[in-house]
Amino acid sequence: MRKPIIAGNWKMNKTAKEAEQLIAELKPLVKGAKPEVVVCVPYTDLWAVSKAIEGSKIKLGAENVAWADSGAFTGEISADMLKEIGVEYVIIGHSERRQYFGETDESVNARLKQALKKGLKPIVCVGETLTEREKNKTKRVLKKQVIDGFKDITAEDFASIVIAYEPVWAIGTGKTATAEDANKTIGFIRSLVKKTWGAQVGKELRIQYGGSMKPSNAKELMAMRNIDGGLIGGAALKAEDFAGIVNYKK
Ligand code: PGA
Repeated sequence: MRKPIIAGNWKMNKTAKEAEQLIAELKPLVKGAKPEVVVCVPYTDLWAVSKAIEGSKIKLGAENVAWADSGAFTGEISADMLKEIGVEYVIIGHSERRQYFGETDESVNARLKQALKKGLKPIVCVGETLTEREKNKTKRVLKKQVIDGFKDITAEDFASIVIAYEPVWAIGTGKTATAEDANKTIGFIRSLVKKTWGAQVGKELRIQYGGSMKPSNAKELMAMRNIDGGLIGGAALKAEDFAGIVNYKK
Protein backbone atom coordinates (compact mmCIF):
# COMPACT_ATOMS: atom_id res chain seq x y z
CA MET A 1 0.00 0.00 0.00
CA ARG A 2 1.26 3.45 -0.91
CA LYS A 3 0.77 5.99 1.87
CA PRO A 4 -0.83 9.16 0.48
CA ILE A 5 1.28 12.31 0.72
CA ILE A 6 -0.15 15.82 0.70
CA ALA A 7 2.52 18.49 0.31
CA GLY A 8 2.08 22.24 0.32
CA ASN A 9 4.21 24.30 -2.05
CA TRP A 10 4.18 27.81 -0.70
CA LYS A 11 6.22 29.17 -3.62
CA MET A 12 7.31 32.79 -2.98
CA ASN A 13 4.73 33.50 -0.30
CA LYS A 14 4.78 34.17 3.44
CA THR A 15 7.41 35.95 5.50
CA ALA A 16 8.79 34.03 8.46
CA LYS A 17 6.28 35.69 10.78
CA GLU A 18 3.38 34.89 8.48
CA ALA A 19 4.68 31.34 8.19
CA GLU A 20 4.60 30.89 11.98
CA GLN A 21 1.04 32.15 12.01
CA LEU A 22 -0.07 29.78 9.25
CA ILE A 23 1.52 26.76 10.96
CA ALA A 24 -0.09 27.71 14.26
CA GLU A 25 -3.49 27.71 12.54
CA LEU A 26 -2.77 24.53 10.65
CA LYS A 27 -1.49 22.37 13.50
CA PRO A 28 -4.78 21.67 15.27
CA LEU A 29 -6.58 21.15 11.95
CA VAL A 30 -4.29 18.34 10.77
CA LYS A 31 -3.84 16.63 14.10
CA GLY A 32 -5.51 13.39 13.08
CA ALA A 33 -4.17 13.44 9.52
CA LYS A 34 -4.11 10.09 7.75
CA PRO A 35 -1.79 11.03 4.89
CA GLU A 36 1.79 12.17 5.27
CA VAL A 37 1.72 15.97 5.54
CA VAL A 38 4.56 18.14 4.26
CA VAL A 39 5.00 21.90 3.90
CA CYS A 40 7.59 23.05 1.36
CA VAL A 41 8.40 26.63 2.23
CA PRO A 42 10.75 29.44 1.12
CA TYR A 43 14.32 29.19 2.43
CA THR A 44 13.84 32.19 4.70
CA ASP A 45 10.89 30.47 6.41
CA LEU A 46 12.57 27.12 7.03
CA TRP A 47 14.02 27.92 10.42
CA ALA A 48 10.82 29.43 11.80
CA VAL A 49 8.70 26.61 10.39
CA SER A 50 11.05 23.93 11.75
CA LYS A 51 10.34 25.31 15.23
CA ALA A 52 6.64 25.92 14.61
CA ILE A 53 5.90 22.33 13.50
CA GLU A 54 7.47 20.79 16.61
CA GLY A 55 5.10 18.38 18.30
CA SER A 56 3.03 17.91 15.15
CA LYS A 57 3.00 15.42 12.29
CA ILE A 58 3.85 18.11 9.76
CA LYS A 59 7.13 17.52 7.94
CA LEU A 60 9.44 20.14 6.54
CA GLY A 61 10.29 20.59 2.88
CA ALA A 62 12.28 23.05 0.76
CA GLU A 63 11.48 24.26 -2.75
CA ASN A 64 14.83 23.48 -4.37
CA VAL A 65 18.38 22.32 -3.61
CA ALA A 66 21.78 22.98 -5.19
CA TRP A 67 23.56 20.20 -7.08
CA ALA A 68 26.93 20.96 -5.53
CA ASP A 69 28.09 20.33 -1.97
CA SER A 70 29.27 23.90 -1.43
CA GLY A 71 31.27 26.65 -3.10
CA ALA A 72 30.89 29.55 -5.50
CA PHE A 73 27.21 29.27 -6.39
CA THR A 74 25.76 32.66 -5.44
CA GLY A 75 22.11 32.43 -4.49
CA GLU A 76 22.00 28.64 -4.16
CA ILE A 77 21.30 26.62 -1.01
CA SER A 78 23.03 23.31 -0.29
CA ALA A 79 21.60 20.03 0.93
CA ASP A 80 23.70 20.23 4.12
CA MET A 81 22.24 23.65 4.90
CA LEU A 82 18.74 22.24 4.51
CA LYS A 83 19.43 19.09 6.48
CA GLU A 84 20.81 20.98 9.44
CA ILE A 85 17.50 22.82 9.78
CA GLY A 86 15.58 19.54 9.68
CA VAL A 87 14.39 19.55 6.09
CA GLU A 88 13.21 16.12 4.96
CA TYR A 89 11.65 16.72 1.54
CA VAL A 90 12.68 18.90 -1.37
CA ILE A 91 10.81 19.90 -4.52
CA ILE A 92 12.90 19.54 -7.67
CA GLY A 93 12.10 20.68 -11.20
CA HIS A 94 8.89 22.58 -10.53
CA SER A 95 7.49 23.96 -13.78
CA GLU A 96 8.06 27.52 -12.55
CA ARG A 97 11.75 26.73 -12.11
CA ARG A 98 11.80 25.28 -15.63
CA GLN A 99 9.82 28.20 -17.09
CA TYR A 100 11.43 31.21 -15.37
CA PHE A 101 14.82 30.05 -14.13
CA GLY A 102 16.16 27.92 -16.93
CA GLU A 103 15.92 24.56 -15.23
CA THR A 104 16.26 21.64 -17.63
CA ASP A 105 15.96 17.89 -17.30
CA GLU A 106 19.76 17.91 -16.91
CA SER A 107 19.77 20.37 -13.99
CA VAL A 108 16.84 18.51 -12.47
CA ASN A 109 18.86 15.30 -12.73
CA ALA A 110 21.89 16.90 -11.06
CA ARG A 111 19.81 18.30 -8.19
CA LEU A 112 18.00 14.99 -7.81
CA LYS A 113 21.28 13.07 -7.50
CA GLN A 114 22.54 15.51 -4.91
CA ALA A 115 19.32 15.28 -2.87
CA LEU A 116 19.57 11.48 -2.88
CA LYS A 117 23.28 11.53 -2.02
CA LYS A 118 22.51 13.71 1.01
CA GLY A 119 19.45 11.78 2.16
CA LEU A 120 16.80 14.34 1.24
CA LYS A 121 13.54 12.98 -0.16
CA PRO A 122 12.91 14.50 -3.59
CA ILE A 123 9.51 15.48 -4.94
CA VAL A 124 10.25 15.66 -8.65
CA CYS A 125 7.80 17.61 -10.78
CA VAL A 126 6.87 16.70 -14.34
CA GLY A 127 4.08 17.94 -16.56
CA GLU A 128 3.12 19.19 -20.01
CA THR A 129 2.21 22.72 -21.08
CA LEU A 130 -1.10 23.58 -22.73
CA THR A 131 0.50 23.81 -26.18
CA GLU A 132 2.15 20.44 -25.73
CA ARG A 133 -1.14 18.96 -24.65
CA GLU A 134 -3.04 20.46 -27.56
CA LYS A 135 -0.44 19.11 -29.96
CA ASN A 136 -0.90 15.65 -28.46
CA LYS A 137 2.64 15.64 -27.13
CA THR A 138 1.85 14.92 -23.47
CA LYS A 139 3.26 11.40 -23.43
CA ARG A 140 6.36 12.33 -25.38
CA VAL A 141 7.08 15.27 -23.05
CA LEU A 142 6.54 13.24 -19.90
CA LYS A 143 8.69 10.42 -21.21
CA LYS A 144 11.58 12.78 -21.87
CA GLN A 145 11.21 14.43 -18.46
CA VAL A 146 11.22 11.08 -16.70
CA ILE A 147 13.96 9.36 -18.73
CA ASP A 148 16.32 12.36 -18.79
CA GLY A 149 15.40 13.71 -15.36
CA PHE A 150 15.93 10.31 -13.72
CA LYS A 151 19.04 9.34 -15.70
CA ASP A 152 21.33 7.04 -13.64
CA ILE A 153 18.78 6.79 -10.84
CA THR A 154 18.61 3.24 -9.51
CA ALA A 155 15.61 1.15 -8.52
CA GLU A 156 16.74 1.45 -4.86
CA ASP A 157 16.81 5.25 -5.12
CA PHE A 158 13.11 5.26 -5.93
CA ALA A 159 12.24 4.19 -2.40
CA SER A 160 12.64 7.80 -1.26
CA ILE A 161 11.38 9.54 -4.41
CA VAL A 162 7.96 11.06 -5.01
CA ILE A 163 6.88 12.25 -8.45
CA ALA A 164 4.42 15.11 -8.80
CA TYR A 165 2.50 15.17 -12.06
CA GLU A 166 1.51 18.77 -12.61
CA PRO A 167 -0.03 19.69 -15.94
CA VAL A 168 1.33 23.23 -16.35
CA TRP A 169 -2.01 24.51 -17.67
CA ALA A 170 -3.68 23.50 -14.40
CA ILE A 171 -1.24 25.30 -12.09
CA GLY A 172 -2.75 28.35 -10.42
CA THR A 173 -5.38 28.63 -13.13
CA GLY A 174 -8.34 27.09 -11.36
CA LYS A 175 -8.42 24.49 -14.14
CA THR A 176 -8.01 20.98 -12.79
CA ALA A 177 -7.36 17.97 -14.94
CA THR A 178 -10.40 15.73 -14.60
CA ALA A 179 -9.77 12.99 -12.08
CA GLU A 180 -9.98 10.40 -14.87
CA ASP A 181 -7.52 12.31 -17.03
CA ALA A 182 -5.05 12.79 -14.19
CA ASN A 183 -5.37 9.13 -13.26
CA LYS A 184 -4.73 8.04 -16.84
CA THR A 185 -1.69 10.25 -17.28
CA ILE A 186 -0.26 9.24 -13.93
CA GLY A 187 -0.89 5.64 -14.97
CA PHE A 188 1.24 6.32 -18.04
CA ILE A 189 4.07 7.65 -15.86
CA ARG A 190 3.77 4.62 -13.59
CA SER A 191 3.94 2.19 -16.50
CA LEU A 192 6.98 4.01 -17.86
CA VAL A 193 8.71 3.66 -14.48
CA LYS A 194 7.72 -0.02 -14.37
CA LYS A 195 9.16 -0.60 -17.82
CA THR A 196 12.41 1.21 -17.05
CA TRP A 197 13.09 0.39 -13.39
CA GLY A 198 10.99 -2.70 -12.79
CA ALA A 199 7.44 -3.64 -11.84
CA GLN A 200 8.01 -3.39 -8.11
CA VAL A 201 9.43 0.14 -8.32
CA GLY A 202 6.46 1.31 -10.37
CA LYS A 203 4.04 -0.33 -8.01
CA GLU A 204 5.53 1.27 -4.90
CA LEU A 205 6.32 4.72 -6.29
CA ARG A 206 4.10 7.49 -4.96
CA ILE A 207 2.86 9.88 -7.64
CA GLN A 208 1.03 13.05 -6.68
CA TYR A 209 -1.29 15.18 -8.74
CA GLY A 210 -0.76 18.94 -8.67
CA GLY A 211 -2.67 21.80 -10.27
CA SER A 212 -5.54 23.70 -8.66
CA MET A 213 -6.21 20.97 -6.14
CA LYS A 214 -8.58 22.18 -3.43
CA PRO A 215 -10.87 20.78 -0.73
CA SER A 216 -13.77 20.51 -3.19
CA ASN A 217 -11.94 18.27 -5.68
CA ALA A 218 -9.46 16.47 -3.40
CA LYS A 219 -11.72 13.56 -2.58
CA GLU A 220 -12.47 12.74 -6.19
CA LEU A 221 -8.82 13.00 -7.23
CA MET A 222 -7.60 10.98 -4.26
CA ALA A 223 -10.12 8.22 -4.99
CA MET A 224 -8.25 7.44 -8.23
CA ARG A 225 -6.18 4.30 -8.28
CA ASN A 226 -2.96 5.89 -9.50
CA ILE A 227 -3.08 9.15 -7.52
CA ASP A 228 -1.21 9.00 -4.21
CA GLY A 229 -1.42 12.57 -3.05
CA GLY A 230 -1.24 16.18 -4.06
CA LEU A 231 1.23 19.01 -4.45
CA ILE A 232 -0.75 22.04 -3.39
CA GLY A 233 0.05 25.64 -4.31
CA GLY A 234 -2.61 28.28 -3.77
CA ALA A 235 -4.72 26.22 -1.38
CA ALA A 236 -1.70 25.57 0.84
CA LEU A 237 -1.60 29.24 1.83
CA LYS A 238 -4.78 29.03 3.90
CA ALA A 239 -4.86 26.69 6.87
CA GLU A 240 -8.49 25.71 6.36
CA ASP A 241 -8.07 24.93 2.67
CA PHE A 242 -4.90 22.93 3.14
CA ALA A 243 -6.41 21.03 6.05
CA GLY A 244 -9.52 20.41 3.95
CA ILE A 245 -7.34 18.62 1.41
CA VAL A 246 -5.32 16.73 4.04
CA ASN A 247 -8.58 15.56 5.60
CA TYR A 248 -10.18 14.68 2.25
CA LYS A 249 -11.64 11.49 3.66
CA LYS A 250 -13.70 13.17 6.37
P1 PGA B 1 -1.71 25.33 -7.54
O1 PGA B 1 -0.13 25.04 -7.66
O2 PGA B 1 -2.25 24.37 -6.53
O3 PGA B 1 -1.79 26.76 -7.08
O4 PGA B 1 -2.30 25.11 -8.89
C1 PGA B 1 0.37 23.74 -7.63
C2 PGA B 1 1.87 23.77 -7.81
O5 PGA B 1 2.36 24.57 -8.61
O6 PGA B 1 2.60 23.01 -7.15
